Amino acid sequence: MKLLITGGAGFIGSHVVRQFVTAYPEYHIYNLDALTYAGNLENLKDVETASNYTFIKGDITDALFVDRLFKTHQFDGVIHLAAESHVDRSITDPLAFVKTNVLGTIHLLNAFKGLWGSNFEGKLFYHISTDEVYGTLGETGLFTETTSYDPNSPYSASKASSDHFVRAYGETYGLPYVITNCSNNYGPNQFPEKLIPLFIHNIIQNKPLPVYGDGNYTRDWLYVIDHARAIDLVFHQCKQGETYNIGGFNEWKNIDLVKLLCDKMDQRLHRPKGQSEQLITYVKDRPGHDKRYAIDASKINETLGWQPSVTFEQGLEKTIDWYLGNAEWLAHVTSGEYQSYYERQYS
Ligand code: NAD
Ligand code: DAU
Repeated sequence: MKLLITGGAGFIGSHVVRQFVTAYPEYHIYNLDALTYAGNLENLKDVETASNYTFIKGDITDALFVDRLFKTHQFDGVIHLAAESHVDRSITDPLAFVKTNVLGTIHLLNAFKGLWGSNFEGKLFYHISTDEVYGTLGETGLFTETTSYDPNSPYSASKASSDHFVRAYGETYGLPYVITNCSNNYGPNQFPEKLIPLFIHNIIQNKPLPVYGDGNYTRDWLYVIDHARAIDLVFHQCKQGETYNIGGFNEWKNIDLVKLLCDKMDQRLHRPKGQSEQLITYVKDRPGHDKRYAIDASKINETLGWQPSVTFEQGLEKTIDWYLGNAEWLAHVTSGEYQSYYERQYS
């Protein structure tokens, strides 16, 4: 099995690379990543010298390069995670999301089809997507695999578009695919532009915690290693041409989550209870902010036997411990471009 993982130097991708490199020594894992601001080879220090692992620096928006790469290595499988992934950045620069998330995905599909188009036996293109393609929920209900797509941000519109192309290549050319739509991930190695690591970083530095709008927005949180386990299971046991929703049955209003995080950080940093909560600052809302996401994960649970292995409290504690124990990682990723992004986004 020659397996290409795209975006393997990013947050979720690095956990997926580690999962496959360690669990499948008989596979060869190729990690293709452009190393944008979100890609970081420090995430993979522990596996970089493994004999079944190769890193390739490259951009999925470069069609010729992608095509050549597939011809050279003859990948049997693809797990496609490379993407622009942050909603706020998609609001200021939608085109970057179209280029990577839509065009980049099409280049990968074309290269895979070009390589195996006359015999797809034993091959699989696994596209990693998000619950945001379904748009927003009201107070009740859950996203299922048959919920209509209704994306509201340039990010989710680009992910929805890429999902449609994957499905269309399946229908039109018989390309064997599977898609998973997952809820909000958290855990080690997440870039501190996303809610949980951003707020951990700001609490450490005693900086304001910018809560968008009234804070009454709901997300369904999943520990990243449980997502990586689900991806392993789907890759090996899925029914081709299907989609699976992945989520933690773990809904939190942002403001409640932030207060829990503040509490745990106070304990961990030996600060007086309530100190970090004083950093909470309500700021201008995100345009087009989706009210509530919540996943019905019963299909993957019932058909493949997957379920999360840690509770939210356990996962959050592991995450806090990781960030406090990896101050150097945090310092590296928050230098340079991060400073000007932060200025633009929150000033
Ligand atoms: P991330 O931003 O941490 O990592 C993205 C990776 O893709 C980075 O390593 C980056 O260098 C690479 N990349 C970006 N553009 C590229 C290009 N043109 N060519 C090659 N590599 C490129 O993202 P993440 O949070 O790990 O998300 C990974 C995937 O999972 C994305 O497809 C995202 O839509 C999806 N997803 C994320 C979440 C979440 O909560 N983070 C939830 C559901 C689905
Ligand atoms: O649902 C899956 C999606 O989850 C993934 O597809 C995306 O790649 C990932 O970024 C994430 O999107 P969100 O927009 O939900 O995540 P984010 O961490 O940016 O925000 C979580 C919630 O917190 C959201 O309601 C906005 C709010 N928020 C976020 C930031 C960065 C704040 O209140 N303040 C902030 O500074």
